[in-house]
Amino acid sequence: MKELLVQYNTIRQHSQNICAPLAKEDYVVQPVADVSPPKWHLGHSTWFFETFVLKPHLTAYTEFDPQYNFVFNSYYETIGARVIRTDRGNLSRPSVDDIYAYRSYVDDAMRTLLAGPLTAELAGIITLGLHHEQQHQELLYTDIKYILGHNPLFPAYSKTLVDDGPASAGSSFLTIPAGIYEIGYQGADFCFDNELGRHKVYLGEYKIADQLVTNGEYLDFIKAGAYQDFRYWHAEGWDWVKKNDITAPLYWHLVNGKRMAYTYAGLQELDLAAPVCHINYYEAAAYAAWKGQRLPTEAEWEIASRQFAWGARWEWTNSAYLPYPGFTKAPGAVGEYNGKFMVNQMVLRGASVVTPEGHSRHTYRNFFHPQHQWQFTGIRLAE
Ligand SMILES: [Fe+2]
Repeated sequence: MKELLVQYNTIRQHSQNICAPLAKEDYVVQPVADVSPPKWHLGHSTWFFETFVLKPHLTAYTEFDPQYNFVFNSYYETIGARVIRTDRGNLSRPSVDDIYAYRSYVDDAMRTLLAGPLTAELAGIITLGLHHEQQHQELLYTDIKYILGHNPLFPAYSKTLVDDGPASAGSSFLTIPAGIYEIGYQGADFCFDNELGRHKVYLGEYKIADQLVTNGEYLDFIKAGAYQDFRYWHAEGWDWVKKNDITAPLYWHLVNGKRMAYTYAGLQELDLAAPVCHINYYEAAAYAAWKGQRLPTEAEWEIASRQFAWGARWEWTNSAYLPYPGFTKAPGAVGEYNGKFMVNQMVLRGASVVTPEGHSRHTYRNFFHPQHQWQFTGIRLAE
């Protein structure tokens, strides 16, 4: 299938392009549990194709190394035992060179497979593998930022990749009338299983901001003492603030009295007009409470999102990550992809400055635990 082959080559190459500016040592470290070493992402996304496509579907395929299943299986219980997540940074082997050799071995076999006829089912699994790799490309960007941004030397990753997104032109509120609306994916292109099935929701009239909250606006929240005032916070959020002594978004630094932020270009003066970033759900909800407003639900976001620009930040919603009505897990190991994570996480909508091209949709449901700050997260207000 020529079209799929072109997509395969482009997407696989992009993962390696993301890592091109790294030093070998940058590939290996895991500063916190949620941040995986870049070399692990490169190996794991390759393992996905080897395990779910090549081993079951390419005749006479020989595994690159049988031990890699233990090292690069992320969370698939169906596939067996694996290295625990927090130990990914302890893997000095396989080496970075070994992992690049693994990638090229699997890519050769995939090109052989893609040269022949494919069943619709197999093409579907390969397409899932490509969207999976794109999710890891976004994680590569965010994890690389964390690794370099927590190095005391604040090394730059790239002078050209921009963290900020477009400056806000001053926010106004759109009014969306009450009514019965439909949300969820409908169409013939790819979507993840968590975007199905499409269903009706009733929404009361609501207002939603046409711009994201900026760094300057968030700075007002800090200067008003909101990080020291329990009234704006969920109990869990207030515990998190006190326990971790939080006073600002991740990557913000006060240097000689000046507000700075770590960006891909290194430590830079905070851009007050750029959308605020790297705040967790607790902070987003507290900011909204301080403003006397709230975060939108995911249904409100999806319906209104045809009327405003989005794509610079993953936007926290007020919705818990739950299955849509009629959600079913796919049979086999890929059934573990999304469904088993539908507890204790919040939905984020939109996309971010590091989301790969072609990997965002109005119906896309991202999800993170409320304490997570390391993604390119932002705030859109509703009332
Ligand atoms: Fe994965």
